[in-house]
Amino acid sequence: MLGPQLIILVIQAIFSGITTGPGTVAFYDPTQGGGSMLDNAGSGGGEPMNVIISGLSSPQVLTDEGILHYAQAIGFSFECLGFHLGDPQSANLGDGNGWVNQTMELRQDYGNDEIGTCLESLIGGNHFRVYRQNGTAANSGALFLAVSQEEDVEEGHQIIPDGYNIGRDKLVANALGVNTHEDVTYSTVGQNITGLLAPGSVGVNHGIATDGMTVLLTVTMI
Ligand SMILES: *[C@@H]1O[C@H](CO)[C@@H](O)[C@H](O)[C@H]1NC(C)=O
Ligand SMILES: *[C@@H]1O[C@H](CO)[C@@H](O)[C@H](O)[C@H]1NC(C)=O
Ligand SMILES: *[C@@H]1O[C@H](CO)[C@@H](O)[C@H](O)[C@H]1NC(C)=O
Repeated sequence: MLGPQLIILVIQAIFSGITTGPGTVAFYDPTQGGGSMLDNAGSGGGEPMNVIISGLSSPQVLTDEGILHYAQAIGFSFECLGFHLGDPQSANLGDGNGWVNQTMELRQDYGNDEIGTCLESLIGGNHFRVYRQNGTAANSGALFLAVSQEEDVEEGHQIIPDGYNIGRDKLVANALGVNTHEDVTYSTVGQNITGLLAPGSVGVNHGIATDGMTVLLTVTMI
């Protein structure tokens, strides 16, 4: 015989199974799980993760192929001829996975998916690193992006002054609204979030101050 208490416990267990995991929450604050909104750039500082692709986005967008396709719809692509500039950075998203290398790095493609990013590598432009929050302790499926605007190769690919805010704002401006790429149409809405990142330059790579704002993008395939 199941007593009423036990029945309630069983129902709660079923519901908690349904209401956790990807597709049920926009993101979890990494700092609540011992993580950080700054990645580790290997220099003693980190890049701010200033854009989050919500876990409530269409699930296909949150896969590796999906985020690449979406990135191409908003003016980015894979790195020049598959070459990678610089070392990967890592992030701890407070999901129990600890510090994990970036999943990928995508660059502004100047209108050409295949070779446009070669131009970015030479003349600079916008780029971002992707981290996925999918550890069992905070499995939102959200993608955390560290976005920044770079100088040209002569300047050693440094981030430009105010390059974190500028990179974020440019990416968001491209992303909002409706974008179509190769027969897939995306609708994107944004929400400004403060309180995740501290404004200022403490702990930030190259000591470049930011306004502390993170933009949450929810991307729906329509
Ligand atoms: C992260 O990247 C560094 C540099 O390429 C590499 O040495 C390290 O093994 C990578 N870590 C993991 C867990 O893949
Ligand atoms: C979590 O994301 C990482 C990085 O993208 C990926 O390598 C790994 O397979 C994912 N884990 C699961 C359980 O899906
Ligand atoms: C976010 O803030 C910027 C100014 O920093 C503003 O232009 C924009 O409209 C805001 N976006 C939303 C969705 O509120």
